[in-house]
Amino acid sequence: MGEGTANRSNQEWLDSVYDKLKVKLKAECRRVGTDIPYTTGEDGRYRDIIDTAYGRTPDGGVTLANWTNGFWPGMLWQMYHATGDTAYRDAAAGVEERLEAVLKDSESVGHDLGFLFLQSSVANYRETGDKEAKRRGLLAAAELAARYNLKGEFLRAWSGPRETEHGKRMGGGDIRGWMIIDSMMNLPLLYWASRELDDPRFSQIAVSHAKTVQRYIVRPDGSCNHIVALDPDTGEYLNNPAGQGYGQGSSWSRGQSWAVYGFALSFRHTGDQSFLDTAKQCAHYCVSNMAVTDWVPLVDYRQPAEPVKYDSTAAMITACGLLEIAGHVGESEARFYTEAAYRILRACEAKFADWDPERDSILTGGAYFYHDPTGENTDRPIIYADYFFIEAVLRLKGKDLFEW
Ligand code: GLY
Repeated sequence: MGEGTANRSNQEWLDSVYDKLKVKLKAECRRVGTDIPYTTGEDGRYRDIIDTAYGRTPDGGVTLANWTNGFWPGMLWQMYHATGDTAYRDAAAGVEERLEAVLKDSESVGHDLGFLFLQSSVANYRETGDKEAKRRGLLAAAELAARYNLKGEFLRAWSGPRETEHGKRMGGGDIRGWMIIDSMMNLPLLYWASRELDDPRFSQIAVSHAKTVQRYIVRPDGSCNHIVALDPDTGEYLNNPAGQGYGQGSSWSRGQSWAVYGFALSFRHTGDQSFLDTAKQCAHYCVSNMAVTDWVPLVDYRQPAEPVKYDSTAAMITACGLLEIAGHVGESEARFYTEAAYRILRACEAKFADWDPERDSILTGGAYFYHDPTGENTDRPIIYADYFFIEAVLRLKGKDLFEW
């Protein structure tokens, strides 16, 4: 296909997907409102997080601190920005009121204050200038900054005692010294706070953390580990627990996608060329791996040949990261990243999309982690696959709200 024909075909695909998106999200917004969804039930409908295991603390209490709770308001703000339909804005504001509880739940909340509040309060503030939303965003940034470990120069990932059941499943050890690649997406909350307050403190912490991630998590070939364990008292390097991928030394595709998008965003906010170089290095690794599986990523790029397991969430996040990189390079280079993003989006839409407006969620094919004995967390609709799909489509249409 010549370049002109490929561009026309991409444009036609984009226009038709945008039309379907408006119908599907309108119906979802009417049904879901201020509930906070994560995945669908047997009936194809979302339920509120509080009515699921993801709304529970290890001791059986109720919490709204789950890292995925910002994606629904994030989607609503995207759709409000694109269409001007106030039903989206009102539902997003209602979810944000509920998320206020997270700011009083410091025992449960981890470093994902970025995901939670960039997509709710900060998106609200960016879109409407609401002062309460700004207050919540700044409070969340202060709580995130307070997770900084001075000796190890990193933001602690998860909360809780030294040893937790979750930590044991991820490889074991003292989680107080752990940081994970996903953290790169939380840093924009700190960059935002520095800009709002005209004070470099928050940004300095973000840059320091990003440099530590670059040093211990990204490998020279552009692949990544999920976790690095440092000694929380001395900051000394200990090891790299396996995390959510296949095993130690493998490359969990969603972790890879956080690296692509996260480092590109750190470049956007700081202008530090090394961050863009790292984003490109990780992007090239992802693109070359996806090219041999028809542009649909495996859960782990180094998983065994069988069983074949895919992850649509990694696909959507990578596509958004590629589009971000395309915005920071020259025109001829940008074509490579944009075309790769289109290939991923189109392949996954063809394989995983359900456009029936009576059913919640667009994309299935999401996987929470590689090792999943019950199968309940594999080949599922997962809310953030939809969020990043919508973000990518709206960005390509020139209608997105920048949320990071
Ligand atoms: N941030 C957690 C995950 O990507 O599963």
